[in-house]
Amino acid sequence: MNNAEHANRLRDEIARHNDSYFVHDAPTIPDGDYDALVRELRELEATHPELASVDSVSQKVGAPLSTTFSAVTHAEPMLSLDNVFDVGELRAWGARAAKGLAVDPSELVVAVEPKIDGLALSILFVDGTLVRAATRGDGRTGEDVTENVRTIRNVPTVLAGARGRVEVRGEVFLAKADFEDLNARQREHAEREFANPRNAAAGSLRQKDPSVTASRSLSLLSYQLVDLDATRSFTRYVDTIAQLATWGFLTAPETSIEVGVDAMIARSDWFEAHRHELVYQIDGVVIKIDDLAQRALLGFTSRAPRWAIARKLPPEERTTRLLAIEVSIGRTGRATPYAVLEPVMVAGSTVAMATLHNQDQVALKDVRPGDLVIVRKAGDVIPEVVGAVPEAGRRRKAKWRFPSTCPECGGLLERVGDESDTYCVNAACPAQQLQQIVHFASREALDIEGLGEQRVIQLLAGGLVADVADLFTLRTEDLAALEGLGELSATSLVRAIEGAKAMPLSRLLVGLGIRHVGPVAAHQLANFFGDWTSLADASLEGLEAVEGIGPVIATSVHQYCRELETIERMARLAAAGVSQFEPRNVARASQTLEGRAVVVTGAIEGYSRDEATAAIVARGGSCPGSVSQKTYCVVVGTAPGASKLTRAGELGVPMVAGEEFDSLLATGAWTTTLG
Ligand code: IVH
Repeated sequence: MNNAEHANRLRDEIARHNDSYFVHDAPTIPDGDYDALVRELRELEATHPELASVDSVSQKVGAPLSTTFSAVTHAEPMLSLDNVFDVGELRAWGARAAKGLAVDPSELVVAVEPKIDGLALSILFVDGTLVRAATRGDGRTGEDVTENVRTIRNVPTVLAGARGRVEVRGEVFLAKADFEDLNARQREHAEREFANPRNAAAGSLRQKDPSVTASRSLSLLSYQLVDLDATRSFTRYVDTIAQLATWGFLTAPETSIEVGVDAMIARSDWFEAHRHELVYQIDGVVIKIDDLAQRALLGFTSRAPRWAIARKLPPEERTTRLLAIEVSIGRTGRATPYAVLEPVMVAGSTVAMATLHNQDQVALKDVRPGDLVIVRKAGDVIPEVVGAVPEAGRRRKAKWRFPSTCPECGGLLERVGDESDTYCVNAACPAQQLQQIVHFASREALDIEGLGEQRVIQLLAGGLVADVADLFTLRTEDLAALEGLGELSATSLVRAIEGAKAMPLSRLLVGLGIRHVGPVAAHQLANFFGDWTSLADASLEGLEAVEGIGPVIATSVHQYCRELETIERMARLAAAGVSQFEPRNVARASQTLEGRAVVVTGAIEGYSRDEATAAIVARGGSCPGSVSQKTYCVVVGTAPGASKLTRAGELGVPMVAGEEFDSLLATGAWTTTLG
């Protein structure tokens, strides 16, 4: 293939992706791969100027328009931003801008703000009244979405004191929490889920029926004020943003002014480190010269301003080849299919394996060994396979079939009831034994220091243990013989195991790994029954009578208590002196939240979601998933759900800052309420 053919192939491919992305709101490849294609084309055009053409897709901003909406010509074009992909390129941009302004790079004054992954919108106000709203479209002509935009709750329709024609531009987005809620609803109604918040926002805004838009919790974040009739004189960008905020628009609270290229880079690094804590999904950081006179000096290229740049953050989705699908066995025997991948960089680290969740998910996604697949890794979340990418003309392997036997022990794999999970039902399966013992010793269970996975593998291999009850029979001399474990560590491990005997029943219940029983249920059960015998003797109805215990948990516990293996295990644990009581009053937290419903939204520092719930429940409260008239208060952590906040606002439910969570637990009260 010669260069001209190569360029044309890239152009065709990009044009196809543009159509899927902009017109159908259904991208066919991840943004990271799309960016890589555009870069390849631009580099090719740069090294072979004879190939460049003004109507190349590399020079265009958006995409063709759909016919659903009428066209709107923008009074001033809506330009795009040039991208850089690493710190070196960003520094080079800073140096160029400084040179253009004849200032030292250490004196460059810029605003640094999040690059929201949504879709651009321009709203025209005439004498302070909203008259029209349009998408960016191809940058010159957009789509008239006025009626839909009127349904977005945080878009003001009247601007106090505004004269003439003013355009407010910004990004329409779905907050992460609202995106999760929307997809949960889509699942409930057996509707297609959205791939990411950006598509969900685009799909929600570009609806024929404004009432559909209204039912989606869209928000607008504004970042540009276009004063078409020049009725005001601003000298700095931050002043225009302050004006937008005064009119009631949401502006990015994370925006900061930085002086000098080093500070600018440091601030953009901050966004990379904290991207998962933000309310919205971001795909980069936007850096803009603050001084408007300086902006005029730098001007524009045909496509983008020279006074601004987008630093793209490492993509959290990439495509790669699926080499094989395998199945791993967890402590409950759950068989989890996972993908073995050709290693690929995702979100800054190499990914070679990704979860496929369960049998239904593999079937639904229909991914097959040999396929090109999209892998996603967001934050601390386990990498997952999103789906397969169609490849024209490639013969695919046969549909992957979930195995019927356990890859570890050869026992049968079975599905229980209408659950989507499959289990290895052989209780003696070595993979299950290993994971059970590791879980038993883990922090949230009996917290036995020094008993991690590698140590347990050794114990199992040496025939020293086969069940959690065997741990309490271990002697220092047995352990000291193990490789890498001297006398000293053997003694401290035995001591740690000894110490675990005094743990309360609730922790033991967690450690046993009863299906569906997490820390919250374990706490409720232990508190209610007080000791193992009473719990084990309880009828199904008796179990269901416990607050927070529904039929699924009750059935699982009831069945677990009646298994021969359980009876034997508990008898051995009791004989070894393991406590099977929940100390009352002593450890019982004071009931500061008795009968009160506390809703938590966003992350609370120092608590996982389960720990926050458990702490509320331990104080007599409950922790429902949604806000109602009965809610005592809403605790607002980092990246809260916009719909919960809105609802709390509507119902007048007090909102309490996450920092006050500890004092709320201790006293049942708070000092200040958030606006
Ligand atoms: S400024 C002339 N600021 O990114 C400059 N854009 O890739 C106008 N975007 O079209 C854009 N967050 O849709 C700007 N803080 C932000 C942004 C932002 C997201 C989008 C916007 C723009 C695209 C360019």
